Amino acid sequence: MSSQDIPEENLPAEQGTAHGAVRVADEKNPFADPGLPPHEHRIQDIDERAAKRSERTVALLFTLSMLATVAFIASYVTIPVDRSVYIFPLGHLSALNFALGMTLGVALFAIGAGAVHWARTLMSDQELADERHPIEAPSEVRAKVMDDFRQGAKESALGRRKLIRNTMFGALALFPLSGVVLLRDLGPLPGTKLRHTLWSKGKLLVNMNTNEPMRPSDIIVGSLTFAKPEGLEEHDHEFQTEIAKAALMLVRIQPDDIKDKRQLEWSHEGIVAYSKICTHVGCPISLYEQQTHHALCPCHQSTFDLADGARVIFGPAGHALPQLRIGVNDEGYLEALGDFDEPVGPAFWERG
Ligand code: FES
Repeated sequence: MSSQDIPEENLPAEQGTAHGAVRVADEKNPFADPGLPPHEHRIQDIDERAAKRSERTVALLFTLSMLATVAFIASYVTIPVDRSVYIFPLGHLSALNFALGMTLGVALFAIGAGAVHWARTLMSDQELADERHPIEAPSEVRAKVMDDFRQGAKESALGRRKLIRNTMFGALALFPLSGVVLLRDLGPLPGTKLRHTLWSKGKLLVNMNTNEPMRPSDIIVGSLTFAKPEGLEEHDHEFQTEIAKAALMLVRIQPDDIKDKRQLEWSHEGIVAYSKICTHVGCPISLYEQQTHHALCPCHQSTFDLADGARVIFGPAGHALPQLRIGVNDEGYLEALGDFDEPVGPAFWERG
């Protein structure tokens, strides 16, 4: 409500300001319009050098944002997806994610800070009063609404039928609990369950198609062979859960073509074993190109170079495929020499 709509006797004493009549609070009438406070000039309004300083600060922040955007693009182009960096106290993080997050954050923050500083120090800060008409309804309309409400309450017999009223309140109060109970499905947290599979030292590699343990001679150059740990049968109660973590793919590569030294140590006569579960969102990898040693996930085309630590060379996957260290037992069968070196599947969590 503006001061023009208030009876003259309700207005408190006047106080002169640069913008005309301003009134102080009236203790007797708390609804009286107190008016605008006296306008205070900022240092930038009266000192041109201070205004210039603010201008330079705003320009500096916008320039910082530009540099951060350039750094964002440079990070995206230059940092390998599987490089990690140690950041105290967060531990090991993806260097690419860290660089992208930091540069994007600085770019956005600097634009925001520049705009806020510009608005606070250099844009006009003259106070304006927006004259509005009262929004409350006239007294006869309010009386009519109350009459209608009382009439409705009387006709519903809510006051008389206490049993209906109380049970209705009970039903309405309890109903939201069904939504709260569903929150239980969000837990419990998996803990370390996702970090371990059925593979362990000495477990034989069993061909997924023939269900037979495999010898190195079963893996021929150019083929993609799928394997599971011995003892895991399709009729097992936990088969689907366990195979979703333990599924393995094997390829044979000329040892000279293997670029990654540790990958070579973990292989046997050029046979390398990787998790078959894509590190994007967990589709099974099923395509292999012998000439390039590239494995392709059919879901979103993530491509992994199996001759170079299964690093991602294309697509949305964020991590290389975990490798399983393999060897041969006394009877000449391929066996695991431990579990995967990293959690398998989607890269929703940071790895060690
Ligand atoms: S699940 Fe493999 S690329 Fe998306």
